[in-house]
Amino acid sequence: MPGDREAVRHICNETGHLGDPIDPYFSDREVFADLHSFYYTDVASDSSFVIEDDGEVIGYLLGCLDSVRYRAWVKSDLEARILKRAFARGVFLRPGTAPLVWRFVVDWLREKPHFGDAGDEYPAHLHINLLPRGRKRGLGGLLIKNYFELLRANGLSGVFLETTAENTNAVGFFKSQGFVEDEKSLAPGVRAADGSRLHGLRMIQKLPSTQGV
Ligand SMILES: CC(C)(COP(=O)(O)OP(=O)(O)OC[C@H]1O[C@@H](n2cnc3c(N)ncnc32)[C@H](O)[C@@H]1OP(=O)(O)O)[C@@H](O)C(=O)NCCC(=O)NCCS
Repeated sequence: MPGDREAVRHICNETGHLGDPIDPYFSDREVFADLHSFYYTDVASDSSFVIEDDGEVIGYLLGCLDSVRYRAWVKSDLEARILKRAFARGVFLRPGTAPLVWRFVVDWLREKPHFGDAGDEYPAHLHINLLPRGRKRGLGGLLIKNYFELLRANGLSGVFLETTAENTNAVGFFKSQGFVEDEKSLAPGVRAADGSRLHGLRMIQKLPSTQGV
């Protein structure tokens, strides 16, 4: 994974808005990649997978087996790191980044959204993204299969993910992989291309136990 860090950060930005590039909404690729992939590439990189095509990384599944530890790290390290970096790079002022950041702040203050773990029964979580040329070829399913094997090998029986409810392709894919919808709430900051609100959707899955098999 350390050798794939830059490829992961690139894919993260290329797919960051409902599977499309994030740039029209947020033009600082370093801050965006830090927010979404730093933990999995730099802190706990032992539960993630990449897919290569012709020697090029075209997709990843970023996994985490201990979401409580992840949340604690977000509070203690990521928030300070992001804020420091965001200030240093002027994301609160630059036209390519400031609108989303301030919309996020206003939505957050008004709606006070609550992001929590899915609970003790769902200790693991994942993020999955493929570049357009890697999609609809069975690779997403393959990444999920490998990750679920890792979860079972670690004795974990529950996994959750957070996606955008309006990302109907992703939701359809996750349902085909056995996930069911859990909580849905307004997503702060982000908007659809027509300016309408988007919703965060948590999806969960219990994995069958392999004990006794
Ligand atoms: C979502 C994504 C990971 C799916 O991966 P994929 O490689 O395209 O999906 P696969 O080809 O492996 O499909 C696996 C199964 O899911 C099903 N599936 C895929 N997309 C689907 C959809 N939109 N609706 C219903 N089922 C779907 C397929 O039919 C397939 O089932 P089968 O094996 O019985 O044929 C990928 O398209 C992607 O990265 N999209 C852009 C980024 C994104 O939105 N990521 C999710 C952010 S949370």
